[in-house]
Amino acid sequence: MNRAILSQQINGELIDRLKNNPESFLSFIQNQSDGTVIYVLEKLGRLENGYSKEPLLSLLNHSNENIRVLSIKNLAKLEDIDLLPTFVKHANNDESTSVRREAVSAIGRLRNEKAIPVLINLIKDKDPKVVMQAIRGLFVFRYKMTVKNELKKLLDHPNELIREVISKELNGSQYHSKSHYKHDEFPEFLRNTVVHGDVQEIIKYVPDESVHLTFTSPPYYNARDYSIYQSYDEYLSFLEQVFKEVHRITKEGRFFILNTSPIIIPRISRQHASKRYPIPYDVHPLLVKMGWEFIDDIVWVKPEASVKNRNAGFLQHRKPLAYKPNAVTEMLMVYRKKTDKLIDWNIKQYSWDKVKKSKVTESYETTNVWRIDPTFDKIHTAVFPLELCNRVIKFYSFVGDLIFDPFAGSGTLGRAALNLNRNFFLTEKENKYINRIKEELNKVGNLFNQMDRPKFLGLNEFINLSKAKT
Ligand SMILES: C[S@@+](CC[C@H](N)C(=O)[O-])C[C@H]1O[C@@H](n2cnc3c(N)ncnc32)[C@H](O)[C@@H]1O
Repeated sequence: MNRAILSQQINGELIDRLKNNPESFLSFIQNQSDGTVIYVLEKLGRLENGYSKEPLLSLLNHSNENIRVLSIKNLAKLEDIDLLPTFVKHANNDESTSVRREAVSAIGRLRNEKAIPVLINLIKDKDPKVVMQAIRGLFVFRYKMTVKNELKKLLDHPNELIREVISKELNGSQYHSKSHYKHDEFPEFLRNTVVHGDVQEIIKYVPDESVHLTFTSPPYYNARDYSIYQSYDEYLSFLEQVFKEVHRITKEGRFFILNTSPIIIPRISRQHASKRYPIPYDVHPLLVKMGWEFIDDIVWVKPEASVKNRNAGFLQHRKPLAYKPNAVTEMLMVYRKKTDKLIDWNIKQYSWDKVKKSKVTESYETTNVWRIDPTFDKIHTAVFPLELCNRVIKFYSFVGDLIFDPFAGSGTLGRAALNLNRNFFLTEKENKYINRIKEELNKVGNLFNQMDRPKFLGLNEFINLSKAKT
């Protein structure tokens, strides 16, 4: 029976009647389908100590694990210490891990010192979720030396989430900002600045924790003329060095969004195979190791007509193994600079007014599949579509923030940042693209005050400015 029909048949009045009359509750549950019993158990609402436990206890032997989970959940509301042995029995012996977890949570909810030895025993369980529930129960008593010592032992637990929770609770925040600037501020000399040169050199002069958001598409490994590396390993270690520095200059808990896709190096002759390099998958472990926390993967989908056709052969011969799909996707991998603070902390660093101005009030893409047409440019072969930059900036930054692109190309990110009342900092090593950025930014020239017109600097000018202003 679906829930709409159930909600008509089982109204608040019937639920109250069942709650107040254990016998009719018992006979009701014996004659109903699992779905109906689950519905009733979900709707029971408040239960106080003194309520007859019999109907719920009888359901603890039910073959349906969801019914056992909900029965324990309801029994836990009674906060009745006499139920401790029942909860312990299910925490230790139930065949379902969901029931075991609910039983451990129920033991914690008793908030009774008698439960401490049981909970200490349960933090040795093999199921990390059971351990996590036991930890929650023990936190109530962390002022006791015995409990604190038992929790401390979990700092070496094999499960990373358990280690993080214990470390945060026992040691407080591990992150200590080195920046002189408030979270919503940044060094003035970086505002709306484009630096011509190798990002590896330039970035050394950017102070720690200066930028709010980085969105970039790095050079593709040998796929285009601007990116010549001796080997794939050399290419990866180049990206690793740059992204380590991006991590250093990023503010606490802020985002880094990396646009890449696997690339193909065509075969040199019919006697050889072409080779595909899975760039996003090879860069990911490097990013995690240097302190970026993986948050999301967004897939940018382009129309099939806009990408290179790899299908012609297969279309003719239809022989298995030689299938080559047209690659219509690129990845946008979303990372956050690892911190023990929640996103809420970041938001609270901004004034009410700035948060209000930054709200995404229009309709927006609710999935991680973004269908956006590519942009073709006469000068640069791989530019960001403006719409892609607009979305990233709106979803991952606030008005007034500093947005960075280490591989700026034609500077699309800078243009989008200005349109959306953010500031940009761009680096690009090719002179022809620096000229392209000048053209791009001229298109939005009216957005600048005389005071903060974009600065175009060479490496030495930038170094001098950084020394003078920090
Ligand atoms: C994929 S393109 C970026 C395109 C850009 N997203 C746009 O909208 O035009 C990569 C850019 O990185 C630049 N680049 C490559 N190595 C660099 C380095 N070491 N320092 C600075 N820029 C670099 C290239 O010249 C190229 O313009």
